[in-house]
Amino acid sequence: MIKNKLRPRLLALLILLPLALQAQNLSIGNGRFQKGDNPAWNTFAYDDSAWQEVSLTDQPWESLGLESANGIGWYRIHVVIPSSLKKGVVEAIMLDLGAIDDSDQTWVNGHLVGKDGTFPEDPGGYSSEYGKRRHYVVDPKWVRWDRDNVIAVRVYNYGDPGGFYRGSVKVVKPSLKDFAKLSLVAEKGGYKAVLATSVGTTGSLKIDVSDVITGAPESSKTQKVNLSAWKEKQVFCPLAPQKRLKVTYTDPRFPEILEAEVCAPYILTPPAPATPRYNGPAVFGVRPGSPVIFRLAFSGDKPMKYAVEGLPEGVVLDADKGVLSGSCAVPGDYPLVFTATNDKGSAQAQFTLCVGEDKIGLTPPMGWNSWNCWALSVSQEKVMASAAALINKGLADYGYAYMNIDDAWEGEERTPEGYITANDKFPDMKALGDWLHSNGLKFGIYSSPGDYTCGGFLGSLDHEEQDAQVWNSWGVDYLKYDWCGYSKVFDASRDKSEAALIRPYLKMQQFLREQPRDIFYSLCQYGRGRVWEWGAFVDANSWRTSHDIVDTWESLYVTGFERQPGLHPYAGPGHWNDPDMLIVGKVGWSSSLRDSRLTPDEQYTHISLWSLLAANMLIGCDISQMDDFTFNLLCNNEVNAVNQDVLGHQAHQDVVEDGMQIWSRDLSDGSFAVGIFNLNEASVPVQLDGALGIIGLNAPTVRDLWRQKDIPTDAIYVIPPHGVLYVKVK
Ligand code: GLA
Repeated sequence: MIKNKLRPRLLALLILLPLALQAQNLSIGNGRFQKGDNPAWNTFAYDDSAWQEVSLTDQPWESLGLESANGIGWYRIHVVIPSSLKKGVVEAIMLDLGAIDDSDQTWVNGHLVGKDGTFPEDPGGYSSEYGKRRHYVVDPKWVRWDRDNVIAVRVYNYGDPGGFYRGSVKVVKPSLKDFAKLSLVAEKGGYKAVLATSVGTTGSLKIDVSDVITGAPESSKTQKVNLSAWKEKQVFCPLAPQKRLKVTYTDPRFPEILEAEVCAPYILTPPAPATPRYNGPAVFGVRPGSPVIFRLAFSGDKPMKYAVEGLPEGVVLDADKGVLSGSCAVPGDYPLVFTATNDKGSAQAQFTLCVGEDKIGLTPPMGWNSWNCWALSVSQEKVMASAAALINKGLADYGYAYMNIDDAWEGEERTPEGYITANDKFPDMKALGDWLHSNGLKFGIYSSPGDYTCGGFLGSLDHEEQDAQVWNSWGVDYLKYDWCGYSKVFDASRDKSEAALIRPYLKMQQFLREQPRDIFYSLCQYGRGRVWEWGAFVDANSWRTSHDIVDTWESLYVTGFERQPGLHPYAGPGHWNDPDMLIVGKVGWSSSLRDSRLTPDEQYTHISLWSLLAANMLIGCDISQMDDFTFNLLCNNEVNAVNQDVLGHQAHQDVVEDGMQIWSRDLSDGSFAVGIFNLNEASVPVQLDGALGIIGLNAPTVRDLWRQKDIPTDAIYVIPPHGVLYVKVK
């Protein structure tokens, strides 16, 4: 794709990049491991010489050949900590343990230094913190400088993987950030800036307000701070709508700066015109003879009348709903012209209906999945509420069509003949499927190749054929097939072959293909065995490339920016890399929902990256409670058009430098979509033509996809922390 001709350091283009602290650190490769539990195992003196020697880097229990069952295991890590790490302003060290699945307690030489997540014996029981990176500051008085120290880590794991599974174990010199925290707490009319510290600090606190859309500065105030250890300073900062607040703290003894920034959710997507406008994909594919289910995605005032020219025999249009149904027996590419008319005007769109054996999933699936909002509390009523809102709030006018039920629909028992049943929360699956289809929406379901699913419901093991038949009878159009429970029936340490990973997926594929309808086949095994290299071989239409996403910056960062680079060669029409479902809107993985914990800027980053990645766009929130901000994120027709581009070329990561990343992909109209991401904790001004020049692109103006307007490239654009500038370059 783009060839870098000239590659000056990106730093030269960033006017004000904050000084990054180079932490001194000591990496620890190995430790000792023992399953089971014993209170004596946290002591310094315990003799662990008989324990198993294990690697601590990206090696969960399973890949160490250990049993993956739920339970407790201990690591004991022996490390000589050099006194050189002690020098500096504050005489402490910090443990950076990477991520641990699920909860841990950590001791240094017998002294508890940290705990994340809770254990089954804790009041309130077990809760996981598997996605969180463990950072524990250690009091210098517990450290045996220049001699053997013992770091003991007690881990509780529920489901696989278990233990140290991401990142490596390090002892590092902490920075100001580890002793002082600057946060912004929402209050009526603004935010309270809170500076809390565990060491004494003298410095200055700066409060800046700017316009959230244009970035223009509005006011700036600085005040002196003098705090003794364990004290807090609070300052109220008023914040009007459409403004961005930035608070900065500097203590001249430390090289780094503390920063916190907030803004209210802000809408960039211009409202859709009242006249009809087509926002859907340019193609849709179906196998010969399979039911056609397609809803024409036109925004604009309703009611609308629809017409389609060029329909092949057997395919019919509901002219009031704009829904295509029927089937077509004869393979071929059928050029169609869609027309939509309302009382404000009329619009047309060119479209191709592709009929052929390998023609399903030609663009990434768009729709909804119940997991990130309702998790195990999903019910037919809740699915219907989101489906109705998908139509009534207008998301269906942007191509969102799949309504996918995740885990927890399964009944407790199969029928005496072995057929799967739905539980009481789903009184009529067939009626649900029929209703969805009558509105041009599609019906998705979930299962596991194991005897039980991740959530403890019945899986498909030894009933694959019967399950596929039942789903067909309900009208299922999408299957998410989740490895999870299969770990309990298959011993991964015994057979590490690729064939063993493929076997359960190939088995279900055969039965899905026997059904007289198209079932989009979505693999969910978190990227094991480089699934992207063989997913197409099992006829999968998409495959999860990473572990479960949650609504935190850390999770978005790891899932999007660490796990996806390099996967672009494997995506294309009919088969997509799936970085997991969306985490915008009201989510919660339970019956009680909350607003996504991502900042507004992080949410723009999330959707821009998924658009670039040609990712499955499965909304994870309750659509019936969706606000205007979330709608603006999900229903920007120009952003979605990149995701749905018919070439299906997933973006690749072109530049990673100084906390900035540039990703780009080429599009069917000869242009490029480019995301310039600022993964730093502070805003970064970027000279746009310079940044585009690094990837060999050059144009006087580009299209700002979120604002949907042309912008000059010979200008500086301030990209907020964890934010993005997303453009299209002709
Ligand atoms: C796994 C999957 C999730 C969800 C749950 C359901 O964790 O990765 O996406 O389907 O199982 O139990």
